[in-house]
Amino acid sequence: MEQYQSWAGETLDKVRAKMAWVSRKNRDKLPYTTDETGSYDDRSDERICWNPDDGLNWWTNGFWGGIMWLLYRDTGEETYAEIARAAEKKLEKCFTTFSGLHHDVGFMYLPTSVVHYRLTGDAEARRNAMHAANLLAGRFNPAGRFIRAWNESGGKDVRGWAIIDCMLNISLLYWASQESGDPRFRQIAVMHADTALKNFIRADGSVCHIVEFDPETGERIKSHGGQGYGHGSSWTRGQGWAVYGFANSYAHTGQQKYLDAAKRVAHYCIANLREDGIVPVDFRQPPEPAWEDSCGACIIASGLLETARFVPENERELYVRPAVRILKAIAQTRADWSRDCDAIVQNCTAAYHDEKHHFSMVYADYFFIEALYKLYGQENIIW
Ligand code: GLY
Repeated sequence: MEQYQSWAGETLDKVRAKMAWVSRKNRDKLPYTTDETGSYDDRSDERICWNPDDGLNWWTNGFWGGIMWLLYRDTGEETYAEIARAAEKKLEKCFTTFSGLHHDVGFMYLPTSVVHYRLTGDAEARRNAMHAANLLAGRFNPAGRFIRAWNESGGKDVRGWAIIDCMLNISLLYWASQESGDPRFRQIAVMHADTALKNFIRADGSVCHIVEFDPETGERIKSHGGQGYGHGSSWTRGQGWAVYGFANSYAHTGQQKYLDAAKRVAHYCIANLREDGIVPVDFRQPPEPAWEDSCGACIIASGLLETARFVPENERELYVRPAVRILKAIAQTRADWSRDCDAIVQNCTAAYHDEKHHFSMVYADYFFIEALYKLYGQENIIW
């Protein structure tokens, strides 16, 4: 990694310069995306986000705090910790408006409460994180041995739906077992990871987004294209969740099959990665329209760097080089380093068939910054 360290350091200087004013400008918000003036929105503003599912319970609301904790660890500046604590405080309210919370409590409370506790030993943060872990464990379906993803919405029966994204959420369960000494959390995480290993990863290393199981018998019914191009396609952000998630499960359990899975999906991503490092919304989408997802790109990059930590030294380059290709493409062609926009990473897409494409998403910035810190030599403290 040393040969990439100076580039990562220079790019992190730009991140620090930008986040110094972005953090202060948006200190009381929970941002998701930027508006036409380049300013961050605020998911905690109930006048705008009146629907609890899109407002305070919005699944990406942990990433703003996560960025702040990463910068606090790096710079030691108390302002970042203050902003992160304020973000976490807002998320506490979700526990009393429970109807909107789903399996993404991992994405919400790992980059806020868990990392807060890890860095400072704060007892309230630990309590919040344990509470979130109990909610996640409560979503486990014992017949199918999977964690239910979403709540009912729009009348759709999703009781038996599991999604690949959950592979990141289960780090909350690994943490809870380690912290409490109670093996049940880890047991649930492992059962879910085994189900995902068997049902989501295809022979060629590509991954489907959603698998539907019978919620009563646990039998697999079918897969769905989800946020990707369609059935049988390969949503790039989902490939990223898989690489990263299985690498995490290996880190927490030491079970070789999870590292093998992370490598298999990583090899598929690397084989499909374009020379210019730009990542489409789906590796199997048609050439036109050329929709991109810089967020998926950053997650794949961070997942590849995570996988690289666990392979023998002579294999590391295989994972680090494509991660750097992606990060350089973002930094040089898809990043806004100016004061025109609060977000750094541009050209993100939430789902292939959405009307809106190529906008900013706070978790793209989070995974971009996290990956740069990894390349710079810092440890993963969140997942
Ligand atoms: N977890 C949903 C997404 O990646 O958009």
